[in-house]
Amino acid sequence: MPQALIFGITGYAGSALARHLVGRGWSVRGIGRSESAADDLETLGVEVEIADVGEPEELEGLGRPDDHVFYLVGSISGHPDWTKRVGLDGVVNAAAALADAGIASFVLVQTMAAYGRGSDETITEATPTQPNSQLGRVSLLAEEHLRDALGAGGFPARFVRAGTIYGPGRRTVDALRNKRLRMLGGGENLSSRIHVDDLATVLTAVAERGRSGEVYLAVDDQPVSMADYFDHLADRAHVPAPGSTPKWLARAMIGGFGLTSKLTKGHAPLGHNLYALVTGNYGCSNAKIRSELGVELVYPTYVEGVESLLADEGDDD
Ligand SMILES: NC(=O)c1ccc[n+]([C@@H]2O[C@H](COP(=O)([O-])OP(=O)(O)OC[C@H]3O[C@@H](n4cnc5c(N)ncnc54)[C@H](OP(=O)(O)O)[C@@H]3O)[C@@H](O)[C@H]2O)c1
Repeated sequence: MPQALIFGITGYAGSALARHLVGRGWSVRGIGRSESAADDLETLGVEVEIADVGEPEELEGLGRPDDHVFYLVGSISGHPDWTKRVGLDGVVNAAAALADAGIASFVLVQTMAAYGRGSDETITEATPTQPNSQLGRVSLLAEEHLRDALGAGGFPARFVRAGTIYGPGRRTVDALRNKRLRMLGGGENLSSRIHVDDLATVLTAVAERGRSGEVYLAVDDQPVSMADYFDHLADRAHVPAPGSTPKWLARAMIGGFGLTSKLTKGHAPLGHNLYALVTGNYGCSNAKIRSELGVELVYPTYVEGVESLLADEGDDD
């Protein structure tokens, strides 16, 4: 029976991956922080350990021979110290804990932040990286660390850059209904998206059939502008379309929230990392996951994906 070890198993994508793998007969274990989410997963037969990836001693002895390891700890928002702690220090600690375990694969899941402002051309795995945010720089440092471990000792690292992960349970419709979600600068920029269930399929394929050292873009077939995506979702869910905040105002707000965040030691609602990601132009190709890994998507575009989201959870997604 194939076996998985998922860092971030209690999170949105990590828990979906756990359910996907259990459904395919895998033995699944994972690391998370939230006890209540862990309880839910344990009813599926998944073993969850509460540990902090920032504390190396809490990860000792985790790996087993032939484990497929998935690293889904991180966030597109949050304080820069936290971004580094989970996005770089945690990766370094996980790799150290697993170095001699004889694992089968290590799949690092990251964002499009490595591509910075993005491009007017279609982005592929061959597109040069040019980060314009701390999140992008941290993600490339983590990748570099694992590439060094691959070169030195054959650590089987693969790199997934995922588009915006969406699906049931994100409460996006709620955010639209309550006017908590706004676009920045009109939302004309392209985003590439991936339904959370399709992401689980892609990650499984990367673990089973991917090549160490390779980058794979996990996106669907059809990039869509932020404005078109949210207008379509609002229309289908019968809620108001989001308004738009000018970029200059958003940048001014980041300065204010940054100060608030420092004072409270909390997370700013809109920081530089999130601003860079949601204003980037990421029209990405999924040709490599289709041709090399044979991935078939259940939700090839946001149009099918939005229907699944409404059908699963009604207007209360
Ligand atoms: N959201 C997107 O659209 C998107 C797009 C591309 C890539 N990504 C990346 O994909 C990954 C998964 O995203 P997601 O949306 O599923 O994130 P999420 O729901 O916030 O899940 C993050 C997971 O990491 C765990 N975690 C956080 N800090 C930890 C720590 N110090 N030690 C151990 N575990 C810790 C969380 O545990 P608890 O929940 O128990 O606290 C949770 O299981 C992230 O790396 C994210 O950057 C996200």
